[in-house]
Amino acid sequence: MNKKPIVAGNWKMNKHPKEGFSFVDEIQDLLLDINHVSVIFAPPFTGLFEMNVNPPFYSAAQNCHWENSGAFTGEISVSMIKDCGANYVIIGHSERRHIFKESDDWVNKKLISVINNGLNPILCVGETLDQRESGQTDQVLHDQLEKGLVGIDSIKDCIIAYEPVWAIGTGLTAENKQIELAHKAIQDIVSSILKGANDFQILYGGSVNSGNAEDLIQVSGVDGFLIGGASLDVESFTSIARTVEMVQEKKI
Ligand code: 13P
Repeated sequence: MNKKPIVAGNWKMNKHPKEGFSFVDEIQDLLLDINHVSVIFAPPFTGLFEMNVNPPFYSAAQNCHWENSGAFTGEISVSMIKDCGANYVIIGHSERRHIFKESDDWVNKKLISVINNGLNPILCVGETLDQRESGQTDQVLHDQLEKGLVGIDSIKDCIIAYEPVWAIGTGLTAENKQIELAHKAIQDIVSSILKGANDFQILYGGSVNSGNAEDLIQVSGVDGFLIGGASLDVESFTSIARTVEMVQEKKI
């Protein structure tokens, strides 16, 4: 697999549309010379329409509904997201799983809808602190992936984001070895479910910042980052993208 590493910013419920548009313009100007990294912005839905991005910059939705249209008050379909020009959809983020009680079954339906509509899913998986401390990390990853991938034949061009729940927004980053093992487990689980599949990327997410990015991007099996807090600030987000670009340049 020879895909560019990914630096994705999940803005969560932050930035009004105009603020988001000027943020994206500024970042694209500052990173004009980026060649070896794909950069993804995931604004709230209101900021997705008319977001002006050009490769290697892309936009993503943070969620979707699996039906194309219908009586689903408050929901947004994948075809609507596609119409906004987005290429990616984040699915099964831990905040959706834990705060909004999204089930693996819903995550699976969303994944199928994203793939069927020709967009690229960013499927999030990860364990809570209790689950890690009781030695259940691999089992949790296995369950989330097995249930999430029901009915899927290929995850070419899909992205999986390993986001340990206890590292999200806490300032606690998983240790390099924990990340390496989790990414290896994800690779093994997916390739056993989907018969040898290895044409997907695995991002790490959880308190990534400009200070730890250089170290984390060199962990074996890390193909990029899904970033929350540090993706909201021009300086820290560009610095992370530049760091990943620099490390990637050295590899080529
Ligand atoms: P933080 O980078 O703020 O820990 O958030 C990670 C995350 O949830 C990205 O989806």
